[in-house]
Amino acid sequence: MKILIVGTGYVGTTTGLIFCEMGHQVTGLDLDETKIKALEAGKLHFYEPGLEDLLIKHIAAKNISFTKKTKKAVKENDVIFICVGTPQGTDGSADLTFVKNVAESIGKNMDNYKVIVTKSTVPVGTAELVTKWISESQKDKIPFDVVSNPEFLREGSAVLDALNPDRIVIGTTSEKARGIMRDLYKDFHCPIVETNPRASEMIKYAANSFLALKISYINELARLCNRLQINVNDVSKAIGLDHRIGPHFLNAGLGYGGSCFPKDVSALIQIARQIGRPMSILESAAKVNKEQTDYFIEKIKQALGGNLQSKTIAVLGVAFKANTDDTREAPSLVIIKQLLEEKVNLRVHDPIVKLASGQFPTVAETVTGADAVVLCTDWDDYKTLDWASLKPLMNQSYIFDGRNMIDKSLVESLGFNYLGVANH
Ligand code: UGA
Repeated sequence: MKILIVGTGYVGTTTGLIFCEMGHQVTGLDLDETKIKALEAGKLHFYEPGLEDLLIKHIAAKNISFTKKTKKAVKENDVIFICVGTPQGTDGSADLTFVKNVAESIGKNMDNYKVIVTKSTVPVGTAELVTKWISESQKDKIPFDVVSNPEFLREGSAVLDALNPDRIVIGTTSEKARGIMRDLYKDFHCPIVETNPRASEMIKYAANSFLALKISYINELARLCNRLQINVNDVSKAIGLDHRIGPHFLNAGLGYGGSCFPKDVSALIQIARQIGRPMSILESAAKVNKEQTDYFIEKIKQALGGNLQSKTIAVLGVAFKANTDDTREAPSLVIIKQLLEEKVNLRVHDPIVKLASGQFPTVAETVTGADAVVLCTDWDDYKTLDWASLKPLMNQSYIFDGRNMIDKSLVESLGFNYLGVANH
């Protein structure tokens, strides 16, 4: 099948390349010329393990090409995936400006039947809006169908997730479009949930919000465990062994970040408020998430004698989680901002994220002279640091582990003062 992917970010680029793996012919469309130039040269404009290899492979095999030319791209392809961003608007709801622009350009340029698929995370009712926007932009009434087909891949493991999804959701009222979508996904070995577009759109918000709830639940429980001197990791492990609860997304930390959970929880909160049926459980989850960095800063302050002014603090990890260079809504940024407000002498390290200085200092350089290390991102590199050789470089030996990821007894045996998130 000839597939057009509109928007070449994480979701669009990964989706396109996975379809290449499945034997389809793909065109990636983006209005940003620098992104197109980079992709054509086999270079990703973001960091995602394994994805660049697929890009190089499918460029060489001529399975994928990239363009800026909307008109030609729309005419030449049968199935069009909308993978553009749906950023958070000022009131917390999803901003559909990019989706609308794409829908209108499809309407203007199509000259035969198309299936238009929304992969971007969009509010309930967007498929109906996309249908309206396309119809209103058409010169002649050419038939088309709109399908909601949300994406569930995670940054940092996008290729594996997209190749091995837990389920595929196809939301459409058109038998013809459903048949085309089934065909498109015929080589995937997972359950396919067929439903209408509104339910499909809700499924995506419901899934992300549920995972965010799980994280806020364990984070709030961690604060309670902290007071009660209980190790929250033991609690997570034991409750996660109950198959009805499951072990995933129960790691206490600094709160969820990234381009999805904070935005999608806000959007669902907004949807619920707008129809007069507020979801208090989600509002609480968002509040708990926001408070989690305050809780951690407080912990740091208390341990260091209440005043952080002029203390040298080394923050390890800026990315919102491991294996990505994405810093959107990263808890580290909140921690950094608060530390700067406390007038600390700040040092920052990340293995991948490019710092404002343009430099990539080593961990040893970053911790030299530091009173404390604050671990913000769960990079594997940090799990295996040689703390024995770092300790003599530091001024004082505090470790604040915002991810409960290093061996507490090991660093304590080396003489460090270690504090995690209720990691007693
Ligand atoms: C999330 C979902 O997991 C994907 O299924 C979804 O497709 C994607 O959003 C999206 O909507 O596009 P992502 O934001 O890439 O994926 O990252 P996650 O691995 O889900 O992590 C989200 C945040 O939760 C991170 O800040 C992570 O550190 C935090 N987290 C995760 C915890 O604090 N504790 C955990 O136990 C798990």
